[in-house]
Amino acid sequence: MNDETLNIESIKDFQKKLSTLLGVSGHEEEVRLFILEEIEKRELADKSWIDPLGNVLAIKEGNDGNDRILLDAHIDEIGFMISHIDKKGFLRFVSIGGWDNRILLGQSVILKSGEGQIFHGIIGSKPPHLSTIEERKKVVDIPKMYIDIGMNSDEEVIDNKINIGTIGTLTSPYVEFPNGMVRGKAFDDRTGCNVLLHTMMLIKEKDHSDTVLFNFAAQEEVGGFGALTGAYKLKPTMAIAIENTTAGDVPGIKKPEIPVYIGKGPAITVADKSIITNPQVNKRLIKNAELENVLYQYKKPRYGGTDAGKIQFTRSGVPSTVVSVPCRYIHSPTSLLKLEDLVETIRLLEVFIRNPASV
Ligand code: CO
Repeated sequence: MNDETLNIESIKDFQKKLSTLLGVSGHEEEVRLFILEEIEKRELADKSWIDPLGNVLAIKEGNDGNDRILLDAHIDEIGFMISHIDKKGFLRFVSIGGWDNRILLGQSVILKSGEGQIFHGIIGSKPPHLSTIEERKKVVDIPKMYIDIGMNSDEEVIDNKINIGTIGTLTSPYVEFPNGMVRGKAFDDRTGCNVLLHTMMLIKEKDHSDTVLFNFAAQEEVGGFGALTGAYKLKPTMAIAIENTTAGDVPGIKKPEIPVYIGKGPAITVADKSIITNPQVNKRLIKNAELENVLYQYKKPRYGGTDAGKIQFTRSGVPSTVVSVPCRYIHSPTSLLKLEDLVETIRLLEVFIRNPASV
């Protein structure tokens, strides 16, 4: 392994930069430009480009292998879209992707205006001391919430280029925790993007027989659309979606219901709601991991859906699986993961590509 490129400071730096970018589904420009620039600047691929749907695609040619391995990680994050501006300047919104409504009230929001300016807001609803006891017991629905950006009228909002269709998301600062853990927004799935970029750095100077294809995919959170068009273009013979997945190793969850654990390495999916993963691809992952002592765990079936569920249907079918970095509190304003799990995920992909177990 090349320690120069698999540098924990570089991994941390990319985690912070990638997760801080704003890239709600369908509006991923910041993320794709950052990623394409890094690939080009560091010469990480033989070819890289942005496709019509907004994916960043890249190809790293192999020597003499028959396979075309696709690695996919999504660049979008869940967020909001403004649906109505009222006379007093309060904004109504709809959800882009799946939020847990219980955690929305009182949260800090960032919105991006038509001119690219960032505005801050707070999600509010009818205050608790003005609500009845019955109302306070219920989870407030999004149509009863609003975003307060401190403006006084609809005219002021519109003058600032915030309109119907403006996007935003919840925000929280990137922070380092004890025990090599880090916290931040949008770890789902900028962590996967980080893994892909560092895998590219690791294999840059190395011989590998199979060709490696990359899709930094748009619009996963609203239906895996970027994964579908990217895989169609790249024509893989096998695929791995790299995700961030819910670590359920927290109080109140019984052992059989814990999908994955923090600190036990990348999680290999056997089945989620979108796919029964391919046993041969999983075997190649596991055999190579065991050969080089890479930590891994299985993710319990059948939680969530992933880009792999879309990739498998491309053209005449693509044997596919999912590898995830365990992460607590995804689809909330802030997530927590262990950097060691991220490092082991990069190692797992590198050894998979090199395939010393010759599976
Ligand atoms: Co995700």
